Amino acid sequence: MKRNHIAGEWVDGRTAADNINPSDTRDVVGLYARADAEQAAEAIAAAHAAQPRWAASTPQQRFDALDAVGSELLARRAELGDLLAREEGKTLAEAVGEVVRAGQIFKFFAGETLRTGGELLPSTRPGLSVEITREPVGVVGIITPWNFPIAIPAWKIAPALAHGNAVVFKPAENVPASAWALAEILSRAHLPAGTFNLVMGRGRDVGEALLNDARVSAVTFTGSEATGRKVAQACIGRRGPMARFQLEMGGKNPLVVLDDADLEVAVNCAINGAFFSTGQRCTASSRLIVTDAIHDRFVAAMVERMKALVVGDARDARTSIGPVVDAGQLQQDTDYIDIGRREGARLAFGGEKRETVDGKPGFYLQPALFVDTHNGMRINREEIFGPVASVIRVRDAEEALATANDTEFGLSSGVCTTSLKLASHFKRHLQAGMVMVNAPTAGVDPHVPFGGRKGSSHGPREQGRHAAEFYTTVKTTYVAP
Ligand code: UN1
Repeated sequence: MKRNHIAGEWVDGRTAADNINPSDTRDVVGLYARADAEQAAEAIAAAHAAQPRWAASTPQQRFDALDAVGSELLARRAELGDLLAREEGKTLAEAVGEVVRAGQIFKFFAGETLRTGGELLPSTRPGLSVEITREPVGVVGIITPWNFPIAIPAWKIAPALAHGNAVVFKPAENVPASAWALAEILSRAHLPAGTFNLVMGRGRDVGEALLNDARVSAVTFTGSEATGRKVAQACIGRRGPMARFQLEMGGKNPLVVLDDADLEVAVNCAINGAFFSTGQRCTASSRLIVTDAIHDRFVAAMVERMKALVVGDARDARTSIGPVVDAGQLQQDTDYIDIGRREGARLAFGGEKRETVDGKPGFYLQPALFVDTHNGMRINREEIFGPVASVIRVRDAEEALATANDTEFGLSSGVCTTSLKLASHFKRHLQAGMVMVNAPTAGVDPHVPFGGRKGSSHGPREQGRHAAEFYTTVKTTYVAP
């Protein structure tokens, strides 16, 4: 059994659960410990005790630890990518890419330990000067989703540690293997015992313990909007000082295809953005907003490309789309396909569930493309989080822009056009944290800010230099000679 890591020790959970391969549900990836609230409290206590020592470490010590973790992730990309594909169901190529991304993130934040400085300003009063410095926040609670089982933990854990915080990490229950592998690497990185803790378990046990404990100064969460709201309420409503919180939640990301788009570029962006990673990304292009003159050609080309997508075992080299992560998510996807049909949308392709592929029982779903949809339909307002996309036909660029922005979300938005004028117009007016011109809405670099607006996000950006805004607290110091 794979155990939790608390106060520098590997400890049994209160219970344990099997980790199941969604490409072949007969395959058990492993047995993983589950902690209860009491064990989570032990991890919080350990982190709280260790944090001052880690905060007093030199930037070089922190650099060395994070750099070593990054190097090991990069060196083991094939093995860890295979494990990730096996437990989560994204294709092997995507999974290896995700491990590489996690490695690069650790490398970037190793560098941040040496780059983070302060400011020195003259005071408005004679003789005084003012220093502005950044200090660690304290203990950070990290709650991550299942769809990026190693990259999202990396982009929360690496900046937390780089900036001198201690960590209690709760991964999603259904993908503990990648989290455990990362924790095992971190356990050998010479951090003071208790600086990094892995507490696998359920949200209602471990998650709630993290939210309600006043020793946790900050909570970073990626997941659904509904859970995000609960996280926010708990961080504000708990006894003692409120926790600062950072939330990355849903998306209903538009990809606008304008009449003058390069059709091949547009179809590549849409196939990648809507269906890669089985559409299970908060950055997925779920609304394809297409102007009149290119609409029919675009739909025909999409259907041709979708016919060639091979749905199958995530680790089979022929596969282009892996299975859905589990039975619950598959049910949600097929429920939305039914809802779309009832709303009057027409399936131009896909949407069939398959119980087996090559004799392997798994959560397989043929990517689905709806046409004849409008932006008021539930399938265009609510996040489905699967390989299901809709085409929304619009008259012209202005209607496309208005439709793209007519959503409660605002994570990522894309536009395909060959016009510099229109590209500039959309760059300026798309209401989203991230804008992609002739590029897929999903898939972001490890060194630049990630995050959204409106209902998609709350709090400072993740990743890149901007991560310091969440993982540090600013101190203003007046110095008189
Ligand atoms: C990506 O598009 O590469 O949960 C990353 C998510 C996002 C990450 C998307 N936070 O899907």
